[in-house]
Parts: sequence; C-alpha cells; structure tokens
Amino acid sequence: MTQTLTLRRPDDWHLHLRDGEMLKAVLPETARHFGRGIIMPNLIPPVVTSEDARAYHSRIMAALPEGMTFDPLMVLYLTEGTDPEDVARAHASGLVKAVKLYPAGATTNSNSGVRDFDKVAPVFEKMADIGLPLCVHGEVTDADIDIFDREAVFIDRVLDPIRRAHPNLRVVMEHITTKNGVDYARSGGDTLGATITTHHLIINRNHILVGGIKPHYYCLPVAKREEHRVALVEAATSGEATFFLGTDSAPHTDPNKESACGCAGCFTATNTMSCLAEVFETARALDKLEAFASLNGPAFYGLPVNDSTLTLTKGDPVAYPTHIDSAEGPVTVFDPGFPLHWSVTA
Ligand code: DOR
Ligand code: ZN
Repeated sequence: MTQTLTLRRPDDWHLHLRDGEMLKAVLPETARHFGRGIIMPNLIPPVVTSEDARAYHSRIMAALPEGMTFDPLMVLYLTEGTDPEDVARAHASGLVKAVKLYPAGATTNSNSGVRDFDKVAPVFEKMADIGLPLCVHGEVTDADIDIFDREAVFIDRVLDPIRRAHPNLRVVMEHITTKNGVDYARSGGDTLGATITTHHLIINRNHILVGGIKPHYYCLPVAKREEHRVALVEAATSGEATFFLGTDSAPHTDPNKESACGCAGCFTATNTMSCLAEVFETARALDKLEAFASLNGPAFYGLPVNDSTLTLTKGDPVAYPTHIDSAEGPVTVFDPGFPLHWSVTA
C-alpha cells in the first residue's frame, strides 16, 4: 500500500536567499515546496531600513521563475543606529514581519550587528508596543567563551535580561541547538518561539569532525553533542506550538566552504521536506510534521496557514542532486547521511 502524507503547504521561518546570481539559483529550490519564508537580511550591505527591505523584496520577486509562487516575508537587520520610527513604518506597511538581532561578530555578515544591547532598547520598546517579533541569533561572541557554550551563555547573559526588561516583546530564538535552548523556549509562554533547522535534527558535532573535517556540516550555531540533537528532535516532534521550522538554509559556493577558513552554513532548501519526513517517521511522529512545518510558525507570527497543500509519498529512496549550480559556482546540497524514502509528489 502506498503511504502518503498531505500537509498544509509548509513555510520556512528562517531562510537565506542572498542576492544577484545566488538568489536566482536558490530561490526556486525553496519556492518549489514552501509558501513563505522569513528572509534573513545579512546581505552585504545589510537590509537595515524599510527602503532596503522594499528594494530587496522587489529583487526577490523579480528572480522568481514564471509559474512559481512564493511570498518573501521581509526582516530588518538591527543596528545600533536603527530608528524605531522606521521600524514602525515598515511594520505598518505590512512589508516587514520581524527584526533580526545579530550580536556583532557572531556569524556571516554580522559586523554591523549589535555590540551594546542597551543602545537598541528603544527599538525593542517600539517592537513590543506594535507586536513585531524579534528574531535572535543567540550566541555570545566573547573570546573566552567556548564555541560549544555560546548559546547557553547567551540565554543567561543576554536573552533573559532583554526579555525581563521587555516582557511584551515577542522573541524567536533562531536555530536553537541545545537542550538549554529547548528548555528556555518551553519556559517562555506565548511571547517566545524557537525555530529548529533541518540539519540540527540530523547531525551532531561528531558528523563535522570524526574521520576528517566535513566543511559542509559546519554552520553556526555549530552542531553540539548528541544529547542536544536528541532534545531538538523531541521538541520538533512534540507538536508544541513553541517550536517551528526555520531551515537556516544558507548557500555558500563549494570553494568558499572547502577552504582553510570555510564559511558557515548548510544548504538544505532542496531536500528539507524529505529529510524532515524521515526524521519524524523515525521518531514515530509523522502526525506532528504538519504542526512543525506548516502550522506553528504562522500561529506565532499571527498569519493564516497556507491554503494549498504538499503531499509526500513513501517509496524507493529519492535521489536529490548533490549540487545546484549558480553563476557564482556550485553549492553542495546537504547530505543527511541516510536514504530519503519520502518524496514530494504534489
Ligand atoms: O551557518 C550559518 N550561516 N549561520 C548563520 O547564522 C548565518 C548563515 C549564513 O548567512 O551563511
Ligand atoms: Zn541564518
């Protein structure tokens, strides 16, 4: 008997589309399966103002191939110079659905991010007033904090104080990678959500380092111990409204990954839905995949769920391309390391 699973069309609540030729290459990979995406603003230069967001939105729509539909949900990159009134205008216009906090130096193109969190308190105040969510890259950048501890330390030293100072601020903990992140997200009530990536449900730090260094598994926050991956799977497959899919699909060309100083990011747009179906089936939780990928995200952002659906069918393992081509160079598609039996059939 053929096994099929039909879900409301999923959305991606954390996505890197880049710009120019890379945007053209990766956008169809997401638009094929996903209805909407929260579009990360860490371009060079970053998407800081409402005008920047409007222009980037137009470039994304211009790059969308004929016959495909996709709704990019725009995000402003928070800097110490961000004007709370510009944020309010961007929100009122309906264009911008979140503001992104990068601690300066935490990850790719984060140099314009925040060094002194007190300086952005007026923006947080305005966002709390108008109900605009703050998406947070939750890692401290202090040189004396071990990279594997940076998320847990951020929760204690930065995130919790911000949330206490602004109790009505809606916050998304982006790409959580630890049991600490899961526990904190669960304790936060309905002003706190957390996205989980595809790759952090599948790899732990051994996958990056055992048997030779695997640059295509390197991302930030870096994958942690197995016990943390298990906690993430338990959270994602729980169906709890707090947890939803944000792939953090982040394309870099192979030369930029396979280098003495390789870029952080896993490119998962192409095969995420097949990977997730496999993970949820293994956890005996296929019935919770729709909540994670299609329902909990819109509920947090106060948006309707998609009208259309996506159908996955179980069969012989599906072969995805190992790379996609871009005019900037090839981009390796995430290899989950196990066969994918579920393919998107409608
Ligand atoms: O692995 C990552 N890649 N983590 C991030 O936070 C940024 C992203 C990118 O832009 O490449
Ligand atoms: Zn990201």
